[in-house]
Amino acid sequence: MSLSSLTDSASGLHSIVEFSHNDICSFLLRKLRKHHRETYLHSVRVAALSAELFAALGLPAEEAEPLLRSVLLHDIGKISIDPALLNKQGPLRNEEWQLLKHHCRYGFDILDTDALRGWIDMDIILYHHENLDGTGYYGLKQDDLPLGVKIVRVADSFDAMTEPRAYCRGMTAQESFEELYRWSGVHYDPDVVAVLYALKNPEKTGGPTLNMMEMLNRLRDRLVETYLQYGSLSHPEVVKASQNLDQALNEFQLH
Ligand SMILES: [Fe+2]
Repeated sequence: MSLSSLTDSASGLHSIVEFSHNDICSFLLRKLRKHHRETYLHSVRVAALSAELFAALGLPAEEAEPLLRSVLLHDIGKISIDPALLNKQGPLRNEEWQLLKHHCRYGFDILDTDALRGWIDMDIILYHHENLDGTGYYGLKQDDLPLGVKIVRVADSFDAMTEPRAYCRGMTAQESFEELYRWSGVHYDPDVVAVLYALKNPEKTGGPTLNMMEMLNRLRDRLVETYLQYGSLSHPEVVKASQNLDQALNEFQLH
């Protein structure tokens, strides 16, 4: 099955699952479906969205295929976590949150076998919750993150935002894009966000217009948070946050 056929909406999500076509990957996906159906369905949708992004970003099939297989299994570590915790609503206790964050490491340990060498991109499994600014699970930053990881980060978040839960409606696509653009360059890769927006809104050019005051407030909060964290105005992270705010203020005056 070719990558281009996966991006054809007529082939449907079923083709994405068939794509795994390695006995171990298929077995693990079936295990995930049995353990926690919502995570399985989320993984399939994120893989379908990532396949569109890989194609739109022009990744050759030989590069995209192991990435796509890895996206299907990006949350496989959740089979090591009690479904009661995966389903828990409301705020988590600190130890529950720490356990949940471990799913990346559990996934890595499950897939780190000779049989899967070359089939799976382990960076996607371990680092799919990293942010450009280093505030993700492992603190990796922009230059440390491969393109595949940046793509999955955006596709994963977009699906998590738009999918309705038992206890709340999902965001609309417009609301989700406003959120992605709000954190573009901070958590999310700006090019990947723009490509996803273009894919979902082929009739429009440019991103959604954010409320400028909201944007300025966020950047101001970010500057205060970074200052409180590092305690020095000359720390590079504080300088960067200050420059981001200055830049936004300049743009605001230009408009
Ligand atoms: Fe995850």
